[in-house]
Amino acid sequence: MATNDILEITTKCNLACYGCSRTNFPPEKTTDLSLEDIKLSCKVFGPTQDLLIGGDLGDPLMHSKFIEAYNIICKNLIPIDNKSTITIESNSSIRNANFYKKYLDVCKQNQHWKHVYRFSVDGMENSNHIYRVNAKWKKIQEAMDVMFKQNIVSVEWKYILFNHNLNDLFEVYDIIKKYNITLQLSDSYKSSFIPESFFPDIKVQDVEISQMLL
Ligand SMILES: C[S@@+](CC[C@H](N)C(=O)[O-])C[C@H]1O[C@@H](n2cnc3c(N)ncnc32)[C@H](O)[C@@H]1O
Ligand code: SF4
Repeated sequence: MATNDILEITTKCNLACYGCSRTNFPPEKTTDLSLEDIKLSCKVFGPTQDLLIGGDLGDPLMHSKFIEAYNIICKNLIPIDNKSTITIESNSSIRNANFYKKYLDVCKQNQHWKHVYRFSVDGMENSNHIYRVNAKWKKIQEAMDVMFKQNIVSVEWKYILFNHNLNDLFEVYDIIKKYNITLQLSDSYKSSFIPESFFPDIKVQDVEISQMLL
């Protein structure tokens, strides 16, 4: 029986975030977990309370058959109770609106699970790409346009605080209030990996601001 588990379905990622282990220790070869192995993993987990589809070495939405993979997980993994969740965690700079509509359809067909989608987005258009190297705001905006205006999946916004994105928190706060989204403020655990010359002011100033917002 699994309570909190993580399933990493791919080692591919489109970004090169400065503090991520993947950027600092890149995999020699990238690959997707096969649909058969995903099905097998569900059997190995057994009844599960909360599953996170995320990881350390990739972004789940890079899996080339993500929609099929998600459906297999929903159908083969056994929820412990009616509060059991499956959470996707993604930089959300990968897929278009049509993909998100298909994902919502699969969630709708699998209501024996609670579905959570977590945006890993650290800023707004002018700041997110500073840490999230290669992120395309247009893609993120497209994803948010679909995901913020639906009520099938619970949406969370995970925001790592840096000096360069502090000011954007006020705008983010208005958005999360408007759309009833959960905000998760996080500090950066690996700021030492980030070249000091790139972020001379990398020290996180989160205490005052997070208390003010939450
Ligand atoms: C390694 S990522 C993998 C999943 C996905 N690619 C993503 O970015 O959400 C897992 C989590 O690590 C977080 N993360 C990345 N860099 C971090 C940092 N410097 N400090 C704290 N958390 C970080 C991400 O925001 C994400 O929530
Ligand atoms: S998007 Fe996620 S996995 Fe990819 S480099 Fe950034 S933190 Fe690492």
